Amino acid sequence: MRNITIIGAGYVGLVTGVGLAEFGNKVICVDIDKDKISQLKSGLIPIYEPGLEEIIKRNVKSERLYFSDDISLSIQKSQVIIIAVGTPQTSEGDANMEYVNSVVRAINKNLKDYKIICTKSTVPIGTGGRIIKTLSNDFEEGIDFDYVSNPEFLREGSAVKDFLWPDRIIIGTTSDKAYEIMCDIYKPLYINKNPIKHTTVETAEMIKYASNSFLALKISYINEIANLCETVGADIHDVASAMGQDGRISDKFLHPGPGFGGSCFPKDLESLIAISKEKNIPMETLSAAKKANINQKAKMGTKLENLINASLKGKKIAVLGLSFKANTDDVRESSSIDMIEFILSKGGIVSAYDPIANVSMLKLFKNISYFDNVYDAIKGADALVVMTEWNEFRALDLPRIKNIMKNAFILDTRNIINMSELSKLGFVYDNIGRIKI
Ligand code: NAD
Ligand code: UGA
Repeated sequence: MRNITIIGAGYVGLVTGVGLAEFGNKVICVDIDKDKISQLKSGLIPIYEPGLEEIIKRNVKSERLYFSDDISLSIQKSQVIIIAVGTPQTSEGDANMEYVNSVVRAINKNLKDYKIICTKSTVPIGTGGRIIKTLSNDFEEGIDFDYVSNPEFLREGSAVKDFLWPDRIIIGTTSDKAYEIMCDIYKPLYINKNPIKHTTVETAEMIKYASNSFLALKISYINEIANLCETVGADIHDVASAMGQDGRISDKFLHPGPGFGGSCFPKDLESLIAISKEKNIPMETLSAAKKANINQKAKMGTKLENLINASLKGKKIAVLGLSFKANTDDVRESSSIDMIEFILSKGGIVSAYDPIANVSMLKLFKNISYFDNVYDAIKGADALVVMTEWNEFRALDLPRIKNIMKNAFILDTRNIINMSELSKLGFVYDNIGRIKI
């Protein structure tokens, strides 16, 4: 059992905190956002993440998980300090390091005995080296502190499962002592199966960027293949599943869609492009993946216009799904944002529905209508667009929808609606890369 403080109680910090508590450690989750901490203290979970509430409650009750807004005291109380604050993109495309830097300053002020300073936030390669250098102005590495890079690979929507059963845990450090302590905090995983990989700090930082960028590249690739399928009479469903049967390719992340979103792929891709430019090692594949994604998002609007074969002016469009993927309330970089902007720019009217993310999208768009029920959003619509692959959209009552829509146009950007049923009911539809029935 180790005493751990996690700084930043967002998607990653909260899940890491509760996961490490579940592994038997004593964890304090600390955040600068006092409202968030008071919510957590009163049992309210500030984000939607399946399974999170239950596991938080269990660990709070077992006195392994605590919440605090006192950063100084929380640093002093623990031996392992994990940085999990945001690293959003700046307007130049590189990672904004102001939150990480402010945490490092707080650590600097409160380093009174030996601690492991561990970064879980996704940071540019070289950040660990800079943090070690900053702390070394006042303290001795190896005596007062050791540094670890321990990047996180969880996905929103399945974060708890991903954290508790990870494919790999990367521990980047040059200190044997820190490596052993880090292995100890992940001990239950270490005993059953050994997913731990020991690397240098820079290698650990690179593994994170290289992994996210590769997945983004894979999605852009399949999106472009899907677009080509549409023009050559091939079906992306069969193409992707047959490609995936080849173990070297794998069937994961081969689902075409409206372009990838979320708080990570777009920014991490951009950040790696910025690093490669700075180092004068151009990475053409990454720039292509980024460009293909911008094109894919824009293509969804064109598809909608082509489908209804008329101007969107005055047309009511039901947009189903606002989060950047299913099972999350997160709308950061969601393709739905591009779709809504496009419809509004053409003079259309948006009626939006998401089972969870209406509240998050309301912060970005006040001038559209939000509904609590999918059929209320669809009623009287000229067209319907599925943007997120929520399970409830896979089981829509299509005959009912046909009756309540003004015009029977459906654009399914996630390929989740049964085409033969659509066709039988007389819908005019489009999707991504499928042979229409
Ligand atoms: P988030 O925005 O959900 O949470 C960040 C939290 O840090 C916020 O609650 C904020 O109030 C807090 N914070 C900011 N400055 C602080 C300070 N000085 N002291 C204490 N708290 C502070 O971010 P996130 O999605 O959890 O991402 C965090 C990091 O993890 C990013 O670098 C991201 O790239 C990386 N990451 C994210 C995911 C994901 O799925 N979201 C997965 C893997 C890695
Ligand atoms: C992603 C990675 O999958 C995580 O491993 C990583 O830890 C995380 O980024 C991060 O660094 O923050 P996340 O952004 O939560 O996780 O979600 P993904 O499931 O990867 O989806 C990202 C986007 O790609 C979504 O918009 C999704 O709809 C899209 N996507 C995904 C596709 O269009 N097709 C696919 O086959 C898979």
